[in-house]
Parts: sequence; C-alpha cells; structure tokens
Amino acid sequence: MSFAALWESLLPVGRDGGTGGYRRFSWTPADAECRRWFFTAAEERHLRADTDRNGNLWAWWDPPGIVDPGAGPGAVVTGSHLDSVPDGGAFDGPLGVVTAFAAIDLLRERGVAPSRPLAVAAFCEEEGARFGVACLGSRLLAGAIGPDRARGLRDRDGTTFAEAMTAAGRDPAAIGPDPGLVAGIAAYVELHIEQGRALADTDAAIGVAERIWPHGRWRLTFTGRADHAGTTRLGDRRDPMLACAAAILAARGAAARQGAMATVGKVIAEPGAVNAISSSVTAWLDARAPDEAHLHSVVERVLAQARAAATAQGVGLDASQESVTPAVDFDAALRDRLVATLAAAGIPAPVLPTGAGHDAGVLAARVPAGMLFVRNPTGVSHSPAEHAEPGDCATGVTALAAVLADLACS
Ligand code: GLV
Ligand code: MN
Ligand code: MN
Repeated sequence: MSFAALWESLLPVGRDGGTGGYRRFSWTPADAECRRWFFTAAEERHLRADTDRNGNLWAWWDPPGIVDPGAGPGAVVTGSHLDSVPDGGAFDGPLGVVTAFAAIDLLRERGVAPSRPLAVAAFCEEEGARFGVACLGSRLLAGAIGPDRARGLRDRDGTTFAEAMTAAGRDPAAIGPDPGLVAGIAAYVELHIEQGRALADTDAAIGVAERIWPHGRWRLTFTGRADHAGTTRLGDRRDPMLACAAAILAARGAAARQGAMATVGKVIAEPGAVNAISSSVTAWLDARAPDEAHLHSVVERVLAQARAAATAQGVGLDASQESVTPAVDFDAALRDRLVATLAAAGIPAPVLPTGAGHDAGVLAARVPAGMLFVRNPTGVSHSPAEHAEPGDCATGVTALAAVLADLACS
C-alpha cells in the first residue's frame, strides 16, 4: 500500500467534524481506533505487532533467518505517536508512523531486508493531552517517570491513568521501566513534521534534528471567593481571574526578555458562570528556552509575579511543576550519519534545533536517537491548519528508507 493510501486510511480517525482538528486522546475510543489501524497496517505487512507493558505499540520486521530476534544485534526502531493535542493537526505524530510503514514497503520493493530487527513504534500519550505529562509512554519505558506517579495522573474528569488503562483492557500494575526492551534498541530515529519555518524558505524538504530545548509544564491554581458579578463592589472582590491574567502577561514578558517561549494555552475557571466571580482559576504554563538557566529564570519570574498578583488580589496560589524535560543533544555520531546517508541519497538535510518535545528526546537518554523533520510550508502545528506537501512527505519516505537501509540492512 502506498503512503497516500495508508495516510488516507488514518485521516478520518478521531477527526472532529466541526473544527477539522484531531481529538485522539489516550485510552479513548479514538485511540482504540488508532491502535486497530496500527495493528492492521502491521498485519498487512506481516510484521509481528504487540503492545508493551506501557501501552506503546510495536510492529517488528524480524531479520530473515534469525530464530530469536532478542538474542541478535540491537534493533533499529522508527515511528512516532498517534495521539493528538485537542484539535491537533493530522501530521504531528502520524506522519512518523505512516512514513515508517511506507519506508518498509519501499525497502521491500527494492528487495532490501534487515540484518537486525527493525521496528515501527507508536508511543502512548506523547502529547500529554489527557493526563498532563508529555511523552508518558516513552518516559515509562525509559524509567523517566515512576509507575506510581503515572498510575495516579488524572484527566480533567478525575479518571486516573490506571483506571483509563484498565477500562481499555490493559493492566496498569505492569507499567514501568522496561530495561530489557530498551537494551535491545541500537538506535531510534523519529521522523516528524517540522513545527516551525526553518525549512520553509529553503530548497530542503528534510532536516535533521540537532537538539531540543529544555521545556516543562507548571500548574498554577488561584483560589479566590465566588461572588455576584453585579453586586460585589470592586474593592470587596477576591477575584482569582485577575491574578491569573497578571501571570499570563508576566509569562509573555519574561519569555520576550529571555529569548524563550512561555505560553498559557489552557485555563479552567470554576465554577465557570458568566455572571459570577470565579472561585478558582487553574492555568497551565508551558515554558521552553535555549538552555536550562534561561528556562528556570523565566519560570521563577512568572511565579514571582503570579505570587505578587495573588497577594494583591487577596487570593491563594498553589503552583506545581507537572513535568520538566532537560535539554537534549541528539547523538552526534548518529546525527552525522543521518546527514551523510541523506546526502548520499541526494537529499540535502540541514541540521536544526527545535523547541518541540518528542519521544526521541526522552529515549535519547537511554539509546542513540535522532530525528528527521519534514518541511512545513507555514510552520503551523498543534492546529488543524498543520500541513506538509505530498511531495515532501514522499521525500520523507525516501529519506527514512535510506536511513533504515543504512542502519538496519547493512
Ligand atoms: C509536543 O509536541 C510538544 O512540544 O509539546
Ligand atoms: Mn505535538
Ligand atoms: Mn509529535
């Protein structure tokens, strides 16, 4: 099956008819449909598919003639994720998974077979859209988050990760680090749509990742006093929304001063009445910076200003860190090898840093990892408008096939 047919078969899954955006949240019916799609794609290719203890999906192309794939040379793994942010685009995640299957098709068409295990992976809850911690499946696999903490993470309705897993027929008691699986991986290469415009005005359809900025998420809950919007004198109010608004503006100011990024993209006001002062407002701060010193300086400044605003408004503030991912410098030898392989295939690929988080960044702490980016003409991502041209996706398949041939088939 060509890239286009495989891509089309996934497109309707979890797409909202109104916005055109994707709502593929872990352990929901849309997620189950994505998982079925993965198993079908694997089955059509006679790949050995399974779900690991942490809910990540794997489709293995075992090297011909090797009876015990676990005992031979380390595996080369490619893939990405199938979950989305709320109203996300079609490409962030799925492009890496569809391209991986299409690259296997291309290798087979060329009569190329692996000399070591080659796997396509789709990691669980990469976006953290339902349970708050990004790259949860790869973090669990790599031991970058404790299983108890992961089991207890709650979604917006109070359902825990453990409960959601159980409802989906998986065993949450089994989650946690999987050193055996990790030890069997010789390299992980993730192809991803570029989430910026570094390639947009160049002749290059493909880039190679250099590093990922350190980034993290913080939850700020401002607690005030619910009261009547029409009768409570302004001076008598304890309005948490005002302190939250000050914190949001502080985030923008701190990011601008420090050459960083800081975003509040999610705010929940309780009880959420138009004609009442809120009793509480929770805001999530996403902060990213070129280095850890700048990241922590941005967050400290935002928290200091949030505390000052809370005091001024007479409201409480509870601030907690939900996740932090340190800076990732991708394996230099693998990165240079990717660039050289692509150059030999006639695909010039500039080396780019990124502010976006990826499972490859988490796995980089345990195995040599690298990334290929596919050009995004507008740079828009985490939006229904996210797009890559079909010709660039085709180049992505060719590029990934060249990389897999070099790493797994030589
Ligand atoms: C994932 O896309 C992230 O960077 O948050
Ligand atoms: Mn994303
Ligand atoms: Mn992604």
